Amino acid sequence: MRKYIVAGNWKMNTTVPEGVELAKAVVEKGKDLPANVELVVAPPFTHLAPVADVLKGSKVALSAQNCADHEKGAYTGEVAVNMLTSLGCKYTILGHSERRQYYGETDEKLVEKTRLALANGLDVILCVGENLEEREAGRHFDVCEAQIKNVLFNFSAEELKHIVIAYEPVWAIGTGKTATAAQAEEIHAFIRKTIAAQFGAEAAEEVSILYGGSCKPSNAKELFAEKDIDGGLIGGAALKADDFIGIAVSF
Ligand code: PGA
Repeated sequence: MRKYIVAGNWKMNTTVPEGVELAKAVVEKGKDLPANVELVVAPPFTHLAPVADVLKGSKVALSAQNCADHEKGAYTGEVAVNMLTSLGCKYTILGHSERRQYYGETDEKLVEKTRLALANGLDVILCVGENLEEREAGRHFDVCEAQIKNVLFNFSAEELKHIVIAYEPVWAIGTGKTATAAQAEEIHAFIRKTIAAQFGAEAAEEVSILYGGSCKPSNAKELFAEKDIDGGLIGGAALKADDFIGIAVSF
């Protein structure tokens, strides 16, 4: 059965003590969510160990925001997949538009990272999405299709079970501009169709496709009511436990 997921991408925010408090509040306020809704928090690398302690015994899953494209060795400043799994991470976000835009993350690198993550038991939240210029030129379907094909199509239907897709239109991230539910659903349905063409309808039905981009308690209900929107990847609103849980109760 398709899983509903609300994942908080904290980006480069909060000190370690602030992050620990936020995680505690998420665990406390999220404890009565229905079993088919999974809560995920993705703090900065420095916070993973203390946040993992807070999450122990709760249903909230831990995610990293990125991982290295090599297994181990002389890669100063990088964090390897097995370091993340040894801390109890269940997921890593990969291909966030901020990483693509500011840190030169390419689809080729994402294939390597995804391969390493899956081989080592780390599930992947793979982000795709067009920027404003691409949207205005009517190229949003092409851009998302290419990102999906370039990365996802290198994996098997079995591996697909460990990948969650997040559609995040770049023009909606941190801008307060949300895609309308209809705009988001149109792309989500298209992504599912693209996945079905490669992996089969049954496999595509099982994939969770999250929406990200200025998602908040006031618009989550409308977005999550769409049949191909299976949750959210939340930035700004994930930094306040009340807002984050306010989104998670919107299914
Ligand atoms: P936002 O960020 O909710 O602040 O728009 C979403 C994201 O970038 O994952």
